[in-house]
Amino acid sequence: MNLKALSIDDEKFNLMLIEAMGAEIGIDVVSFTDPRKGIDAFRSDTFDIVFIDYMMPEIDGITAIQHIRSIASDIPIVMITAVDDNSLMLRAIEAGATEFLRKPVNMPEFKARTGNLLQLRKSQLLLKDRAKLLEDEVRKATEKILAREHETLVILGRVAEYKDQETGNHIARVAHYSRLLAKKAGESAESQDIIFNAAPLHDIGKIGISDFILTKPEGLDIDETGLIRKHPEIGYMILKNSESPFLQAGAIISLTHHERYDGCGYPNGLKGEEIHLYGRIVAIADVYDALFSKRPYKNPWPIENIFEYLSNQKGKHFDPNLVELFLKSKEELRAIHALFTDN
Ligand SMILES: [Fe+2]
Ligand SMILES: [Fe+2]
Repeated sequence: MNLKALSIDDEKFNLMLIEAMGAEIGIDVVSFTDPRKGIDAFRSDTFDIVFIDYMMPEIDGITAIQHIRSIASDIPIVMITAVDDNSLMLRAIEAGATEFLRKPVNMPEFKARTGNLLQLRKSQLLLKDRAKLLEDEVRKATEKILAREHETLVILGRVAEYKDQETGNHIARVAHYSRLLAKKAGESAESQDIIFNAAPLHDIGKIGISDFILTKPEGLDIDETGLIRKHPEIGYMILKNSESPFLQAGAIISLTHHERYDGCGYPNGLKGEEIHLYGRIVAIADVYDALFSKRPYKNPWPIENIFEYLSNQKGKHFDPNLVELFLKSKEELRAIHALFTDN
């Protein structure tokens, strides 16, 4: 690919000269007699080097260089001048000129000075290319790691639910419903990501509950219910000291997903917004999915009945605003369910 030069000079003859010399060393030169048009062209196109005459009517070379520099800081600018004046050269350098050519420009000097600059420009482009390539690679690798991390957390969540005879994609769906609700609640992309990765851990504390109680087919007595109600704190204890924002949020979610908006939940009887937003969100997602799924002891509820139930529980079990947002998301909820059906 040829490099491309912008050439600005009020005299056509000089432009033709630069074009001819440019062609000689393999650069395409785009020429302008009007500096303003030249600067506009520079703004809208990509150039690898700029040649600017000093003496031009209306806009002089120094001003033109300042304009070009304000658009691009890393393109070499060559000032071509008949004036032999050190202070002018100094001003041009201050304005951002990289190199000078004196009129009349001759081929050997043009070749030598421009050749160096173009060599630099080529390495610059190569570096940029390589940096871009690396950036792409890093982005892809990061995405892969994040996807794997999420998968690991989902599997960890499933381990706990498996003890409870909850199989299938409950955990994956709860993660997606929770992220959706966090988005509807106006949470940042980062926060949505955190709840997406932390929600799978809501029942991780069931690992610490005996299988005998978890799988008991008939009703539980008071002591047994008390033991099952320990799972939020057990999960919290397991996760709380992690430095990972996902696991930290998992600890909060584990501890708060059975709290109720009216303060009648467990383990701490927290009320309203005392319950962390993540806990209030996962509570809705978890109950919604449980009602919508087949369990050994129940058939799936029709969605209308679930919506009615959630609506009735506004301000009782659930945060009324979050329920409102959830009920408005029927299509998205269905789409998530279709993606993660239970086989
Ligand atoms: Fe739970
Ligand atoms: Fe659950």
